[in-house]
Amino acid sequence: MLLDDAQLQRFDEDGFLVLPALFSQAEVELLLAELPALFAERCAANFREKRSGVVRTAMGLHRRNALFARLVRHPRLLEPAEQLLGEPFYAQQVKVNAKEAFSGEVWQWHYDFATHHGEDGVPAPRALNLHVFLDEVNEFNGPLVFIRGSHRHGPVAAHPDTRTTSYPLWTVPDETVTRLVEAGALVAAKGPPGTALIFGDCLVHGSAQNLSPWPRRIFSLIANPVSNALTREQRPEHQHHRDLTPLTPLSDDCLTRPAVP
Ligand code: SIN
Ligand code: MN
Repeated sequence: MLLDDAQLQRFDEDGFLVLPALFSQAEVELLLAELPALFAERCAANFREKRSGVVRTAMGLHRRNALFARLVRHPRLLEPAEQLLGEPFYAQQVKVNAKEAFSGEVWQWHYDFATHHGEDGVPAPRALNLHVFLDEVNEFNGPLVFIRGSHRHGPVAAHPDTRTTSYPLWTVPDETVTRLVEAGALVAAKGPPGTALIFGDCLVHGSAQNLSPWPRRIFSLIANPVSNALTREQRPEHQHHRDLTPLTPLSDDCLTRPAVP
């Protein structure tokens, strides 16, 4: 699935793209069915919310589960990524951000490269974040909010925040967010299950607490060019994988075809 010229231009200008109905309801249901067992595991790769203790983000999923191993090699994700990156890339981070009903907490204003560079020594802001909605994402359950065009002002100053949530993140100060919002606009990324998003490493984004009775589970693959790999290994492997093998696509039906014995 290749992006057309209008989509490429929008990605350049806005810093993100929404791809409606990239995955089918049947594919999403197969992925959702894997989550209860993965979320039940007590392991360092499952970060739990500060207050409720429910899973906030479950990482390293392609190493823990066969279906997610196929999803990171899905051609509907890899082909647009290849088009945008123009060179081989590896799976830097693979997760589901859960944002559970009533208890899913905030993701502070940030852009991913601040953490990738500050923690892992990634040289340049080249990585792409590829998301797939596993639930409907609406205005009530904590959608991602992008500052449209903020990537063109970056990378802006950011600082590590280890206190606000259970997940350490390099965040952008309020004054900078105010300035960027005045220059751009806030856009909430909403849509039914199966919707996909692509956004770049300097785009400022965040999401509010989930006050609703509906979970908001989103799959995320961070794809980084092999030539732009990490230079520091201070974070655990599930936060930045060391395997730099380029991702290669499987067949389009790789999620729904029966497993080969
Ligand atoms: C979120 O799940 O709301 C934030 C995800 C991200 O920062 O990529
Ligand atoms: Mn992010």
